[in-house]
Amino acid sequence: MIFSNLVDANLNTDFIGRNLEYYSRLASTNDEAWELIAENVPNGSLIITDNQFKGRGRFGNEWISAPSMGLTFSLIFYDLKNLHKLPLMIGVSVCEALKEFNFKLKLKWPNDIILNDKKIGGILCESKNINNVKTVVIGLGLNINEKAEDFPNNLRKRAISLSMVSNKTFQRERVLAKILNHFEKNLDLLKEKNLVLFKKWESFCNHLNKEVTFHNNNVNIIGRFINISDKGNAIIEINKKQKTFSSGIVEINNSI
Ligand code: BTN
Repeated sequence: MIFSNLVDANLNTDFIGRNLEYYSRLASTNDEAWELIAENVPNGSLIITDNQFKGRGRFGNEWISAPSMGLTFSLIFYDLKNLHKLPLMIGVSVCEALKEFNFKLKLKWPNDIILNDKKIGGILCESKNINNVKTVVIGLGLNINEKAEDFPNNLRKRAISLSMVSNKTFQRERVLAKILNHFEKNLDLLKEKNLVLFKKWESFCNHLNKEVTFHNNNVNIIGRFINISDKGNAIIEINKKQKTFSSGIVEINNSI
């Protein structure tokens, strides 16, 4: 159960998360968000469930979550500018929020959230033009209180939760509220010509200047991850030439 009064008590936002739609069980919070948009829910609405049974990830992958252990939620925004910066900004906000709990989370381009070289969370941003209004749904999955055995066998080596590294249990509502607080504070970073976001993102990235295998359109390329461009794309040096990619998967070499 997610207690909305506990979220509220820790929230200091003006609008993000002020309308909270809670479901005990749901296929996907992103899918539900799109349904609710058709009913004109307010800007900054939060859709959250305790048991997401058909979570969606990037590239059509599944996002698997054990009931009542982690956070699976989506946020709805209308008419946000510079959407290309959004996944970066959410990643930064999550890292900043978890610093308040003494965790050093890292980011892997474009939107994987990493702890101790394992994946602790992922972001799925989707946008559509609805009646000429750019509408965006941001989905976030974050592992909080899971134990290793809560993950399916094939994920156990690659997945981690806050509990697994600290042996503590966390109030998910508090973690959620802190993320939303940072998120709203960081909204200004989306403004054009504001380079602060890129600096912040770089400070959390765990593979700047490292050798990576880059998976793009079924091709695997070995190169050095230089940085992100002003569009948020990956700049990879391959055979001494820099190439820019708007999508793909980064695998850090010599890591699990
Ligand atoms: C990824 O790493 O591939 C992104 C995973 C995003 C998962 C979240 S969980 C809440 C929201 N609802 C979904 O169906 N997916 C996102």
